[in-house]
Amino acid sequence: MTILVTGAAGFIGSHLCVQLLGRGDSVIGVDNLNNYYDVSLKRARLSLLEGNENFRFFHADVSNESDISGIFNNNGPIRRVVHLAAQAGVRYSIENPMAYVQSNLVGQMIILEQCRRHQGFEHLVYASSSSVYGGNTKLPLAISDRVDRPISLYAATKRSNELMCYCYSHLYGLPATGLRFFTVYGPWGRPDMAAYLFTEAILGGQPIKLFNHGNMKRDFTYIDDIIAGVISALDHIPAAVGDVPPHRLYNLGNNHPESLLKFVDILERELGCKSIREMLPMQLGDVTETYADIKAAQLDLGFAPITTIEQGLPQFVAWFRSYHGV
Ligand SMILES: NC(=O)c1ccc[n+]([C@@H]2O[C@H](COP(=O)([O-])OP(=O)(O)OC[C@H]3O[C@@H](n4cnc5c(N)ncnc54)[C@H](O)[C@@H]3O)[C@@H](O)[C@H]2O)c1
Repeated sequence: MTILVTGAAGFIGSHLCVQLLGRGDSVIGVDNLNNYYDVSLKRARLSLLEGNENFRFFHADVSNESDISGIFNNNGPIRRVVHLAAQAGVRYSIENPMAYVQSNLVGQMIILEQCRRHQGFEHLVYASSSSVYGGNTKLPLAISDRVDRPISLYAATKRSNELMCYCYSHLYGLPATGLRFFTVYGPWGRPDMAAYLFTEAILGGQPIKLFNHGNMKRDFTYIDDIIAGVISALDHIPAAVGDVPPHRLYNLGNNHPESLLKFVDILERELGCKSIREMLPMQLGDVTETYADIKAAQLDLGFAPITTIEQGLPQFVAWFRSYHGV
């Protein structure tokens, strides 16, 4: 089967491509290799894929309609898409809001249009985010909870993606599954996220920034558990039921929130050095705690995250040391 993966040079996308190729799928990867973070990391992830004869890569922007329609039209029938390309990051959406409008809203619309126009198209799986829960305080965060109070533009674009997909499912019967990821970490992880930022700072003798004075909890979810959930979602094509269109939403989180300070303690132990902790107030757009209710994903997709931060952080540190030669 041929699967189009957008954001293929990204953290989650590159891991997904490795797993899909490993089980015998053909993968068409798309990424614009933007410089939101170090492009050499994106290229290094791609180099893991490019030797595989079942992988083709297109350096293209999902918000460029002619490039994306060309890829759909010229690469055999593409029946399944995993759309992960997006401008990620809560904090950067305060600085550069238009990047989010272009990649996350225009880009998603162009992918949706291509999917619904192609005869025989089977399933669109796309990335949403735990950030759609905004400042909700009822925990765990459940799919049935209200999500109309985003507190960052990033979250607003991700919630908009869900509504756009719901609408296309309703209008055109397009099967689509949205996945709300909860703080994903692991080897090849993003330089703007806690595991990478803290490891880099601790090894460099620089202070780490702990917002809300470190009084935060996150449902840190290991990359392999996330990828298992994405692939299971891809293989479960939603059906229309009565007046419910073939659109589903799932939380993919570890279902086990951990304190940020414990996360730092484990990193320090693994790195063999202490951090310099800079305690700071809460940041605009951030939330104090995330905790995923994963009942629906367990039931429908067999989603079963198993990796604790005690197991997952050493894997990240080992990768960081070998990638950077430190
Ligand atoms: N990592 C997490 O913890 C997390 C949590 C919630 C949601 N998500 C979502 O999951 C998806 C993947 O996240 P990630 O952590 O792998 O991020 P990432 O930034 O590593 O990957 C995204 C990739 O998309 C590419 N991209 C961005 N805009 C593009 C565009 N307009 N056209 C083509 N390519 C473009 C980037 O170059 C990048 O390689 C994103 O949609 C993100 O919002 C991630």
